Amino acid sequence: MKILVVNGPNINMLGVREPEIYGRETYADLVAAIQQHAQKIGAEVVCVQSNHEGEIVAWIQQALGVYDGIVINPAAYTHTSVAILDALKAVNLPAIEVHISDVNTREAFRRISYPAMACRKVIAGKGFWGYCEAMEDLQLIIDH
Ligand code: DQA
Repeated sequence: MKILVVNGPNINMLGVREPEIYGRETYADLVAAIQQHAQKIGAEVVCVQSNHEGEIVAWIQQALGVYDGIVINPAAYTHTSVAILDALKAVNLPAIEVHISDVNTREAFRRISYPAMACRKVIAGKGFWGYCEAMEDLQLIIDH
């Protein structure tokens, strides 16, 4: 099983940005946690991060025929990006949206997600574990 994990803008600033919300662990720590869990569940995972919407769209398009599923934290683009929604719809790969923080208990605008309309599930507020849970959920979906 091959999974693409896509992180959006400012996720590279983990550990520095708003630690009271996102914690003190860095993006490198996140990738290490994801890879460790991937190994545990026998999945092959590639992690990418971008601050550019178009680059995220391109990665989703390029996932077709290469990956079995996508875990995506579109970060701020969650609340604005019809382009990411359309890219997920275009490739029609099983996808799960993850947020480190609990977007539902923050500002009202964070409750809106465009990409979620093309995702099987949204996991929010579970920190780094949310990515691991998403990989396990994808494994169940793909194996069926
Ligand atoms: C986030 C939540 C978004 O609202 C925010 O813009 C982010 C990170 C999260 O992981 O909690 O950058 O996606």
